[in-house]
Amino acid sequence: MNITYKAPGKIILSGEHSVVYAKPALVTAIDLCLTCTVSTRKDRECKTHGKELNDGVNIIDKSVTNYLREKNIKHEIVPYDLKIVSQIPVGRGMGSSAALCVSLSAALSHLYTGHPLSKEQINTIAYRAEKHFHGNPSGVDVSASCFGGLIFFRKEFEFLKNISALHMKIPAVISQNLVILDTGKPEETTAEMVAIVGSKFNKDPINTETTLFKMEKITKRMVVAVAKEDPRMFEDSIYQNQLLLRELGVVSHEADKILADLSPAGYGKISGAGGSIDKSGLILFYIKNREEFENVIKIKKIKIIPFRQQFRGVEEVGSV
Ligand code: PMV
Repeated sequence: MNITYKAPGKIILSGEHSVVYAKPALVTAIDLCLTCTVSTRKDRECKTHGKELNDGVNIIDKSVTNYLREKNIKHEIVPYDLKIVSQIPVGRGMGSSAALCVSLSAALSHLYTGHPLSKEQINTIAYRAEKHFHGNPSGVDVSASCFGGLIFFRKEFEFLKNISALHMKIPAVISQNLVILDTGKPEETTAEMVAIVGSKFNKDPINTETTLFKMEKITKRMVVAVAKEDPRMFEDSIYQNQLLLRELGVVSHEADKILADLSPAGYGKISGAGGSIDKSGLILFYIKNREEFENVIKIKKIKIIPFRQQFRGVEEVGSV
């Protein structure tokens, strides 16, 4: 038996880092997917995937079986082979590990129970697994990958996450001007960047709290910009957002330089955990002047990823 599920990557439009401090984040699933196929095998020995991936697969597998046991869901654990195919760049803040957690949780729970679980159940299993990868993730990546579309996310407590699907598309007047720039893989991991903001908070709680509060306002402003189909408000939210991310110390000198070079062409903000030493991962960029944009991109040889929303979230793409 073969079971295949695919799950999308994501991009955070606003609220990275502040989301760890119970502020909201606005995130959308992006039309780049990671696909997992599990195939039953007769003998009990599983194929290896390389140490790092193997550890990850074992963690997700354990999260699935623990959940099924805890909820008394009838299941049978069977040996399997696994094939993973991904379009999502790794280590850039596009949620590749979340997409792995989501699609593999969906495929394995289906394999062990003989039927698909709900997206809410998959989200819980995948979030528990993601915690092993990232220490204390907010869960925003996993939710976007699981449910798809535009999501307003807020984690109130460990046991209470408000995941609100905003039933709207980013309107064409805005999305036609958006691109994702890949500035390269940051030196630091997401967990390390979260820790950098954490130590900033501990050293200077009052000012950091003010920055986080402003971030909340900007995130809400961005939602209003999308709802009102207001490109001016949207581009301003991107600009303000980047200033706040810089205050949090998650933007490298190099990313700042790229944005300075691109300033005649529009506004950008880093998206995801960022990086402070060298590269800062992804930049969400709003183009105001396409000719200037093309010129700088060509000279600087910056890789562009098209901004295309995905609305279906995790989905089964065939069981044989
Ligand atoms: O994994 P990334 O780069 O998309 O970062 C996740 C966003 C953070 O807010 C920095 C961390 C989190 O768990 O929400």
